[in-house]
Amino acid sequence: MAKLTYYTAATLDGFLADPDHSLDWLMRQDQDQSGPLNYDAFVADIGAIVMGSTTYEWVRRHFPDEWFYTMPAWVMTTRELAPPPVPQADVRFRSGDVRAVHEEMVAAAGGKDLWVVGGGELAGAFADAGLLDEVIVYLAPVTLGAGAAILPRRLDLELLETAQNKDFLTARYRVLGPLTEDRATQ
Ligand SMILES: NC(=O)c1ccc[n+]([C@@H]2O[C@H](COP(=O)([O-])OP(=O)(O)OC[C@H]3O[C@@H](n4cnc5c(N)ncnc54)[C@H](OP(=O)(O)O)[C@@H]3O)[C@@H](O)[C@H]2O)c1
Repeated sequence: MAKLTYYTAATLDGFLADPDHSLDWLMRQDQDQSGPLNYDAFVADIGAIVMGSTTYEWVRRHFPDEWFYTMPAWVMTTRELAPPPVPQADVRFRSGDVRAVHEEMVAAAGGKDLWVVGGGELAGAFADAGLLDEVIVYLAPVTLGAGAAILPRRLDLELLETAQNKDFLTARYRVLGPLTEDRATQ
């Protein structure tokens, strides 16, 4: 079965973006592009990706003439959004249950793995459905105090791997499921 990973960067206090959806705090950090848990090695095994509309619109705003994802991409939205102005971009807009999207992604991925790009609620929806397998985080040496939370759920995870990549603490986790304390009371 294709593995679904939430691969993202976050602040030390657990935010993906500040309240204005700025990633300036992230863009100025230094990283080794061939270092631990690097993007190129991760994405080489990815056959399909999914993101929420805020993340999609951030990418479109910052790279209006480009679409650098080579694999099919699902964008979750309840609105009519324009696809990227790039002929080879394969972007599919969907709304509702992430389980149906997961099925489509697995079918399109050709045996490769899946990536939930963000945001946190969307990754949480996959976790709620028992479909989120791993989390890889690049933790930046920054606190923001407020913003978009990395994964606003109560989950137990198992720490599989850690390393420093220049400015970042990188970590890979397996998602075990709902927090043990919550399972006990269900
Ligand atoms: N630090 C990082 O590496 C990193 C990674 C990813 C994202 N980010 C940033 O983090 C922020 C995340 O923004 P966000 O919290 O708003 O999350 P998001 O997942 O990017 O967007 C959320 C929006 O997507 C749509 N959506 C999500 N699930 C849906 C579903 N099941 N059905 C229909 N529509 C659905 C809804 O908007 P509509 O229905 O109104 O379209 C929802 O408000 C952004 O600023 C992004 O740029 C940072």
